[in-house]
Amino acid sequence: MKKNCDLLIHNAQVITCAENGQPYGLLENGVVACAGGKIIAVEAAGSSDDFTAAQCIDAKGQVLTPALIDCHTHLVFAGSRAGEFAQRLAGVSYEEIARSGGGILSTVKATRKASMDALVSSACERLAHLKSQGVMTVEIKSGYGLDFDNEIKMLQAAKRAAEKMQMTVQTTLLAAHAVPTEYQDDRAAYLKMICQELIPYVAKEQLADAVDAFCEGIGFSPEETRLVFDAAARWGLPVKLHADQLSDLGGAGMVAEYGGLSADHVEYTSIDSIKKMATSDTVATLLPYAFYALSETQLPPIAAFRKHGVGMAIATDCNPGTAPTTNLLQCLHMACTQFGLTVEEAILAVTINAAKALGLDHNKGSIEVGKDAELVLWNTTEVADLVYWQGQRQAQHYP
Ligand code: NIG
Ligand code: FE
Repeated sequence: MKKNCDLLIHNAQVITCAENGQPYGLLENGVVACAGGKIIAVEAAGSSDDFTAAQCIDAKGQVLTPALIDCHTHLVFAGSRAGEFAQRLAGVSYEEIARSGGGILSTVKATRKASMDALVSSACERLAHLKSQGVMTVEIKSGYGLDFDNEIKMLQAAKRAAEKMQMTVQTTLLAAHAVPTEYQDDRAAYLKMICQELIPYVAKEQLADAVDAFCEGIGFSPEETRLVFDAAARWGLPVKLHADQLSDLGGAGMVAEYGGLSADHVEYTSIDSIKKMATSDTVATLLPYAFYALSETQLPPIAAFRKHGVGMAIATDCNPGTAPTTNLLQCLHMACTQFGLTVEEAILAVTINAAKALGLDHNKGSIEVGKDAELVLWNTTEVADLVYWQGQRQAQHYP
């Protein structure tokens, strides 16, 4: 007897991103059936006859992937930092700009002034571009509010934008992104507000799925970061970290000690930290656009991540300072050319590994029975095209 389904895609090069002994979990000439928003069958050629489908698509040998995931963004913000970009071209460093009150703090001023509607509408534009590139799940951080009300405003804006765009958004509280001007002389009081007011509130109201911090000379020290992580742990929220971007403060190792989801940037990460990441299954999230935009020269330790079996994700880091982009496909290209990832590693980095970096791998990131029916058919028969031809491939979402 034939099985009913809502959607059947056949004659596809199915890039399952699951482990099946083939690169990318490839299933040549595969068939994928979906019903009720879930994948119900992933099979080899011929089995399309087993189904009656409301919608039946002949993929004509094109590439079918799980919908992509951008697992690190700051895409709710207001204002522009084009002036700082010009300053950096003239030789002023990112750190110098930050120390003189620009950088993150200049976006904080603009974001505090912006209305909820304005934040939602600009976030929707950025999400729409990501969606056109095959993305259905995006992580969005707060961190440009830096006070109770404005951090909450950012998280709510992210959730509203997700609803409007019909995408999945995971929100992350990044109140420990910078010390706001009004607390410059009392960092401890700002950290106390984060740990005793913000984290409990966002946990109770389910406004954030994770807690992040910027552990760096111009951000928060490892000791300060631990206070934030301890509070997150008390409230049952997983942690992730902007770690080892400009120097090695042991951040990636620390987030691993907390069983964290991901350590992000990781250019300066030590072998010692990498071993801890391997033990705790903490993903290394690479942000090649920020590396490029800051003209950094310290490459992330890719060979060591491979050697120790640390999963690698790639994300845009979309933000107005160090990564003015929503072009995830270009970031794939950059991760390969700048950091030496293979095409297969790059594809897995925006699917299954990005899902792991968000704690969503039980539902997303691969084409496997039981997972969410979020598929993308690409107008190419060569999977390398997604990485090679920068950001230009047409993505058709299914269902
Ligand atoms: O991921 N490193 C800190 N945070 C952001 C940059 C934020 C900004 O400059 O506005 C990042 O690169
Ligand atoms: Fe970031």
